[in-house]
Amino acid sequence: MKKDITIKGLKKTYSKNKEDVLVLDDITLDIEEDRFVSIVGFTGCGKTTLLKIIGGLLEPSSGAVRIGGVPPRMALKHHRLGFAFQESSLLPWRSAFENVRLSREICEPIDKAGRGIIYDIMDSVGLTNFKEFFPSELSGGMRACVSIARTFSISPNVLLMDEPFCHLDEITRQKMNELVLSLWDKSKATTVLVTHNISDAVFLSDKIVVLTKRPAKIKKIMEIDFARPRTRDLRFDVSFLAKVRQLYDLLLE
Ligand SMILES: Nc1ncnc2c1ncn2[C@@H]1O[C@H](COP(=O)(O)OP(=O)(O)OP(=O)(O)O)[C@@H](O)[C@H]1O
Ligand SMILES: [Mg+2]
Repeated sequence: MKKDITIKGLKKTYSKNKEDVLVLDDITLDIEEDRFVSIVGFTGCGKTTLLKIIGGLLEPSSGAVRIGGVPPRMALKHHRLGFAFQESSLLPWRSAFENVRLSREICEPIDKAGRGIIYDIMDSVGLTNFKEFFPSELSGGMRACVSIARTFSISPNVLLMDEPFCHLDEITRQKMNELVLSLWDKSKATTVLVTHNISDAVFLSDKIVVLTKRPAKIKKIMEIDFARPRTRDLRFDVSFLAKVRQLYDLLLE
């Protein structure tokens, strides 16, 4: 089953108090299968709007998105689409384990093997001893880990992430990035990440899409071809810092 993403002539206008606000202005983009693509741009430019349209959670005003050749809503039926959003949206009445279980439950009944997969994924994000804890009993970072574990528990083949680590400290965020990369290396989902963090975008991506201020158009697409698997040392490499600088300058242009 193909899992490339094509976006053609996408426009989105929101109407509020009888006024129309154009947010996305003619976005055209191809994302090849199994690629890791980041979207960066100023606050309020339209990144979340774009991601929601890609995921079939929001309809565009015009233009079209195809995932593996079919509209997002149809892809939702055939693909395992994983979402991880800005606010981790865990269910407060469910324990960490039961929250991680949730996405799998929706896809299929959970048998012994399914439980094993969930235990493994919780172990890999360091939550083994916190399975029975409720979201209110976890730190913000742990909640982000539950959210990531939940996303990967269904082995998504298309993964859409919107600032999943925005509330974490620098070191924990870097660790979570490395975790996402190692899970992604195994699962090879076609991934679209929205992030404000320039160095994370360079560290994680094959391609970075830089958007203009609202209404968002594509300002530039940067190719990032550092070898994989990528390790922490890369962040201190001169070639890495040069890419970070290039992206920084592009945003300021
Ligand atoms: N449901 C809505 N109705 C009206 N306007 C909306 C709606 N959702 C978003 N907007 C507007 O669309 C614009 C883009 O919002 P969006 O959330 O896509 O930005 P963003 O790039 O994700 O910002 P941030 O980096 O702060 O998360 C904003 O001006 C916002 O006010
Ligand atoms: Mg947003």
